[in-house]
Amino acid sequence: MKQDLQNKKIVLGVTGGIAAYKACSLCRLLIKKGADVHVIMTKAATNLVSKKTLEILSHHEVLVEFFEDISDILHIEVTKDADLFVIAPATANTIAKVAHGFADNALTASILASHCPIVFAPAMNTRMYKNLATQENIHTLVNRGYFVIAPDSGSLACGEEGEGRMREPEDIVAYIVSLLHRFEITYKETSFLEAPLKPLSLTETKLLPRSNGANLKVLITAGPTIEPIDPVRYISNKSSGKMGYALAAAAQKRGAYVTIISGPVEENAKDGIAVIDVKTAKEMYSAVMKKAQDYDIVIGCAAVSDYSVENVSLSKIKKDDNDELVLKLVKNKDIIKEVASLEEKRPFVVGFAAETNNCETNAIEKITRKNLDLIVLNDVSNTSIGFNSNDNEVTIFDKDGKIAKFDKASKDIIADKIMDLVFDNYHKVRQ
Ligand code: PMT
Repeated sequence: MKQDLQNKKIVLGVTGGIAAYKACSLCRLLIKKGADVHVIMTKAATNLVSKKTLEILSHHEVLVEFFEDISDILHIEVTKDADLFVIAPATANTIAKVAHGFADNALTASILASHCPIVFAPAMNTRMYKNLATQENIHTLVNRGYFVIAPDSGSLACGEEGEGRMREPEDIVAYIVSLLHRFEITYKETSFLEAPLKPLSLTETKLLPRSNGANLKVLITAGPTIEPIDPVRYISNKSSGKMGYALAAAAQKRGAYVTIISGPVEENAKDGIAVIDVKTAKEMYSAVMKKAQDYDIVIGCAAVSDYSVENVSLSKIKKDDNDELVLKLVKNKDIIKEVASLEEKRPFVVGFAAETNNCETNAIEKITRKNLDLIVLNDVSNTSIGFNSNDNEVTIFDKDGKIAKFDKASKDIIADKIMDLVFDNYHKVRQ
C-alpha cells in the first residue's frame, strides 16, 4: 500500500454511533498509509467499541475523560501538532455540540482547541440526518471551514433505509489523502484557522475531489489559436479558455501535476499549474509535441484553427490596393491526432468535439478517425453552453460508444465530472 500519509499525525475522534466499530478499520487503514494515529473517544463510544482495542490498534493511549493524565492537558496537547482531525463516526449530538462551541468532553474540547483541518463523517438515522436542526448544524460546520463527508444512502443499523450511513473507511481515507494533498498545494505555509478554505456548500461537500489523479501528469490545450493575416489582423474563434482552465483546476484538485498549453485568453491558472502561452496552431503543435511523451494524459480542449494563412503579409494590407482580398488558407496539423498516433510513450488521449449538427455521429467519427481514447462532445450551436459561456453540457464517448452525459452546469462542475471519468478510464486502461 502506498504510504500517502507518511509523517502525518492524525487525530481520530470516535463518537457513540453504531458505526463506531468501523473506526477500528479506519484506524488500521490510516496506519497502513503511514499515519501516526491518536484516538479520542466519547464515553458513549466506549460502550460500542472498547478503548483497549483502539489503544492496541493505534499504539497510543486513548483519551476519553478530561484530566485522565493530570500532568498533561492531553486534549490540548494531542491536537497541537496534528495534521488532520477526523471525527468518524460523528453523531448528531457531537455535531450539534461542535456547531455551538461546546467543550464538555475530551473530544469536543480537543476540536475547539484544534488548528488543523477537521473532517466529520456523520453517521445517524436518516430522519435525524435530514432534520433541519442537524442540517443547519452541518451547514454551520461547513461555513466555519470544517469538512463534512456526506454520508451514503442505504440500509441503516436501525433497520430503516436512507441517507445517514457513514462512508466506508476506504472512502474516508481517500478523502483525507486528497484533502491533505490539496492543503499541501494550496496552503503550504498557513495554518487552517488563519486561512480557511472558501466555505463549501452542503452539496459541494459531496463533490469534494477524490485523489484519482494522484501522481499523474496531465497536459491540457485550452483557448483559441490565432492565425495572422498581417501584423494587425488575424483569424480566430470565440474560445475563452474557461473549459480548459476548469479542467486543469479539476485535475490538480485530484492530485495531478498539470500543464496548460494555452492560446491567448483572459483566464488565470490556479497556483501550481504550469502554463505555456502560444498564439498560433503551429506554436501549439510544437509545444504539445515537445511535452506529450512525458505526460500520462493529454486533453485537447483548445479550439485550434484548422487552417492558417499561407502567405502572411509582413506589412498591414491596405484596403485601397484591393477591391477583393483573397486569402489562401492551408491546413494545420491536427495536434491531438498526432499525439494519439505516437508509437512510443503514447499518452491517454482525450479530445473534444465542438459540433453544431449531427453531433453524436460527428463525435463518433472523430474519436475513430483521430484514434482517441475518449471524446467529449459539446453542442456549440447552443450559445448558452460551449464557446465563451460559463456553462457547458457534454456527452462523452469511448471507442465503444456513449459512456456518460453531464447535464448543463457550470464549467467547474462539468470539469470535475469529466476529470473523474477521465482518471477512472485511464486507470482501467493502464492497470
Ligand atoms: O474555451 P471555452 O470558451 O470555454 O469553450 C470551450 C470549447 C467549446 C472550446 C471546448 O469545450 C471545445 O469544444 N473544444 C474543442 C474545440 C474544437 O476545436 O473542436 P473540433 O471538433 O474542431 O476539434 C476536435 C478535437 O481536435 C479537439 O480536441 C481539438 O482540440 C482538436 N484539434 C483540432 C484541430 C487541430 N488542428 N488540432 C487539434 O488538436
